[in-house]
Amino acid sequence: MKKPLRPFLFAALFLLFSALLSFSAWADDRVLNILYTGAIRGELEPCGCAPETQSGGLARLSGFINAERAALDPFILVDAGNALAADTPQGRLKTEALLKSFRVIGYDVAALFDVPAFARPLLKETGLRALSSKALVRSVTVKRGHLKINVSVDPNARKNGMLNLLLTDKPVSEAASLGWDVVITSSGETTEGADKTTGPIVASGYPKGEKLGVISLRLDGNGRVSGFDQRWQTLGKDVAEDARVREVLKEYDAKVVELTKDEEKKTALAGPWLGAVACIECHEPFFESWAATRHSKAFASLEKAGKSRDPECVVCHTTGYGKEGGFISKTTTPGLVGVQCEVCHGPGKDHARGFSAPSGPVNETVCLKCHTKENSPEFDYELYREKIIH
Ligand code: HEC
Ligand code: HEC
Ligand code: HEC
Ligand code: HEC
Repeated sequence: MKKPLRPFLFAALFLLFSALLSFSAWADDRVLNILYTGAIRGELEPCGCAPETQSGGLARLSGFINAERAALDPFILVDAGNALAADTPQGRLKTEALLKSFRVIGYDVAALFDVPAFARPLLKETGLRALSSKALVRSVTVKRGHLKINVSVDPNARKNGMLNLLLTDKPVSEAASLGWDVVITSSGETTEGADKTTGPIVASGYPKGEKLGVISLRLDGNGRVSGFDQRWQTLGKDVAEDARVREVLKEYDAKVVELTKDEEKKTALAGPWLGAVACIECHEPFFESWAATRHSKAFASLEKAGKSRDPECVVCHTTGYGKEGGFISKTTTPGLVGVQCEVCHGPGKDHARGFSAPSGPVNETVCLKCHTKENSPEFDYELYREKIIH
């Protein structure tokens, strides 16, 4: 090659290279964010028992999406199923609140594999687009700009010329072989999201909605997937809540109170529980040391959270709840609020009468009834015992 030609060659190469670069930049511009949940299991919001349990909740999920809308666009928001609560009176109220919240949050599609009969009218009322394996509507087409997305719960309903997104409750290992562009499962496995480099793209929703899954797809000119990233969005205290979803949750809390109204009317039953005040007479120093622990304020924590009438919370924040003569409500059994002496030492009536019934030694098993992995993830018997010992 002759010397004078070289600069031209370089220049030509440079131009070609930068053209390629800008072409790929253009191609990279075509993205779609898939925001997904699955396996929420009726968890409207975290209990807030410990800092580690503070992530998640529908009000924050909605707040996050609203705040980040511009950065997330274009996106599609789907739930892969196992969202509803158990079919109990309180569970039904949760399911109602959940479906209403989904609508407010703006879910494009929610997979409800088995829609319980009581929830069917609710679905109509909320207008949520739901897919059911039992009903006629098993697939919908969602449009984002020029892109058409076939969202389905039917593994056989892939469509040509669209991006195919399957929602399933199958385990991740099975979902991988289904051959869809993207599969989101609600199997509840805590797999760390999708493999970030290779297809097929399979991801499972984070259990109890603690985190929001985000898959950023890169698409080529024909709308085919050319690459992707997956990340978890945590939903901690720093995320501002959506006030509209909070309204729905408040309505739920009020209905739970309504549900337990009859409890409130019950008169306290005679039973073996005395309440901490009855122990003062003979064990004053123990009473005082107990009063200085958080156990004595456990009911106040629920009142602060607006949950002091919620059976699902009261069970661990009071004394003898659900047992004969135990806590019913603050008005009926004011002497049994909080985690009192008898939670650890056993009911005290016989003991106080004749000191004849010494309570057994307090051991770790007693604590673990309430200090579960979920509600007290940092629990360490030795360390915690140190803090409450009198
Ligand atoms: C299985 C028992 C259990 C249930 C059910 C439970 N809690 Fe708790 N809660 C605990 C324990 C144990 C702690 C203390 C955790 C720790 O510090 O390790 C706690 C702590 C708390 C605190 C204090 C947090 C702080 O740092 O000040 C709040 C508030 C709370 N719970 C609210 C709730 C609400 C609301 C519910 C119902 C939705 C609920 N809890 C249900 C066991 C329970
Ligand atoms: C009936 C349920 C229950 C039982 C049983 C129970 N706890 Fe707790 N514990 C709680 C609740 C609820 C809280 C949180 C109170 C709050 O702040 O609202 C708590 C808080 C605590 C804290 C304060 C945590 C902190 O970080 O300051 C310690 C320590 C503790 N418990 C130790 C124990 C030990 C040790 C046992 C067993 C010997 C035990 N608890 C048994 C319900 C229980
Ligand atoms: C969170 C659990 C817990 C609570 C609540 C609690 N205690 Fe204790 N208590 C213990 C533990 C642990 C010991 C140590 C002895 C043992 O292991 O049995 C103890 C010991 C005692 C002892 C015997 C001390 C000795 O010399 O053997 C008395 C009396 C006592 N507690 C009274 C009370 C009274 C009264 C209250 C309520 C005002 C109370 N406790 C609340 C856990 C608790
Ligand atoms: C009328 C006085 C009296 C009352 C009221 C009373 N105790 Fe006692 N308690 C005693 C005496 C006395 C002992 C010591 C008994 C012994 O050494 O055999 C004792 C011992 C204990 C012990 C040590 C372990 C054991 O069983 O021997 C615990 C724990 C205890 N009491 C808890 C309580 C709790 C909790 C209450 C309230 C529900 C309570 N007591 C109410 C008098 C009382």
